[in-house]
Amino acid sequence: MTVSAPNDITPKIPRHIAIIMDGNGRWARERGWPRLKGHEQGSSRVQDICEGCIDAGVDYLTLYAFSTENWCRPKHEIAGLMLLLERFLAEKVAEMNRNGVKLATIGRIADLPDAVRKRLERAVEETSHNDRLVLTLALNYGSRDEIVEAARSLAASVQSGEIMTDEITKELFSSRLSTGGMPDPDLLIRTSGEMRLSNFLLWQLSYTEIHVTQKLWPDFGRQDLRDAIADFSSRDRRYGAAVENGSISLPA
Ligand code: IPE
Ligand code: IPE
Ligand code: MG
Repeated sequence: MTVSAPNDITPKIPRHIAIIMDGNGRWARERGWPRLKGHEQGSSRVQDICEGCIDAGVDYLTLYAFSTENWCRPKHEIAGLMLLLERFLAEKVAEMNRNGVKLATIGRIADLPDAVRKRLERAVEETSHNDRLVLTLALNYGSRDEIVEAARSLAASVQSGEIMTDEITKELFSSRLSTGGMPDPDLLIRTSGEMRLSNFLLWQLSYTEIHVTQKLWPDFGRQDLRDAIADFSSRDRRYGAAVENGSISLPA
């Protein structure tokens, strides 16, 4: 198989963008405001970025909104984040339906407060017919938990005789992750300059292009999204292969 040449001038659009939305706290601190103000402003960026993705022709947007490690934060910050999420869902479903956004979640939703869980389930249901962009919120999400869960599910399938051990392939493993059925992200954006994955999509990001911007999430706008996509478009994705005569040869 031959994939697009590095000097091909057609802009490459990532099919799936994942974002680690970071820097809300610093944005608030710079203004002498409480951290929750930063989260509030951060949450208000989501719709604009969804619309930017639709305009660019992106099919999947996955946002890291609350990690399994974020439970370590002060109680009032967690409560504020949950309230913001509830408010976001209450206010944005109509807009999602107008824009053709289908909401999905990954992470342990069952452990979120009841009110949030119910709103989430309702929003997922109410947007299930949309087909322009799949917006996945990673909530109470931790990649290591997810991988352990997939391993358990495969072990149970072997134990019950449903599959043999040597039938466990990369594809089968992927299908047992919470992202099963979704393509891996082509582009990962992390705002606020941090150079780490923070337990996000460790399996799925194996060959993802990474774009780190100094912009704090509450300041991240459409132009920043376009810049990230342009950066992606200029990358030469090799998947470990050699470049020969301007094209990358991959095994069929
Ligand atoms: C990201 O912003 C939002 C969440 C993790 C929920 P932070 O709250 O981590 O902001 P900083 O990193 O403290 O600036
Ligand atoms: C990652 O940001 C989690 C989310 C954006 C939801 P954090 O701010 O929690 O990550 P660390 O602590 O800098 O690694
Ligand atoms: Mg942070």
